[in-house]
Amino acid sequence: MPDAYPPILDACCGGRMMYFDKHDPRILGQDIRAVPRHKIASNGSFFEVRPDVIGDFRKMTFPDESFSLVVFDPPHLKCGETSFMYYKYGTLYTDTWEADLRSGFAECFRVLKPCGTLIFKWCDSFQPLSRILELTPYKPILSHTAPSRSKARKTYFVVFVKEASNAQG
Ligand SMILES: C[S@@+](CC[C@H](N)C(=O)[O-])C[C@H]1O[C@@H](n2cnc3c(N)ncnc32)[C@H](O)[C@@H]1O
Repeated sequence: MPDAYPPILDACCGGRMMYFDKHDPRILGQDIRAVPRHKIASNGSFFEVRPDVIGDFRKMTFPDESFSLVVFDPPHLKCGETSFMYYKYGTLYTDTWEADLRSGFAECFRVLKPCGTLIFKWCDSFQPLSRILELTPYKPILSHTAPSRSKARKTYFVVFVKEASNAQG
């Protein structure tokens, strides 16, 4: 691992579909898997998961307080490992999803610098946002609901700010 990191960590970057620039050098993309680039038959677009670092958001290898901004967009559904949803977004696991997300939050805050920002994305088709926010003791500052055609589910972007360190008062 290098001594210095880019300012932004994406803890589970997937296909980086939400970025304006998928190759922005300020972002270090981590994911637990890689998916080779290939064409999606249904719409002809290309998809790949090419993380800079293969790693697990439940137990990251980065030192404490390494990043100014952490992005956390974990899987939000349970789905079969041969499904299209799994291929694009991964899955939550029945027996461990709560512990996995709790560890993910704890790790994201551990690697954030004091006063750093965490952006958490969640779609509430499986569990409501309120239930997921119980998995971290940190209190969010604000959230924004992304436009959706579905009335049954909503996608949220939630912003947290880590406290100042004790040394800084
Ligand atoms: C919702 S997708 C991320 C989509 C991404 N934000 C984008 O813009 O395309 C969730 C990603 O989390 C990854 N993932 C699942 N479990 C993980 C873990 N324990 N550690 C790291 N990545 C994980 C999946 O492989 C998947 O690529």
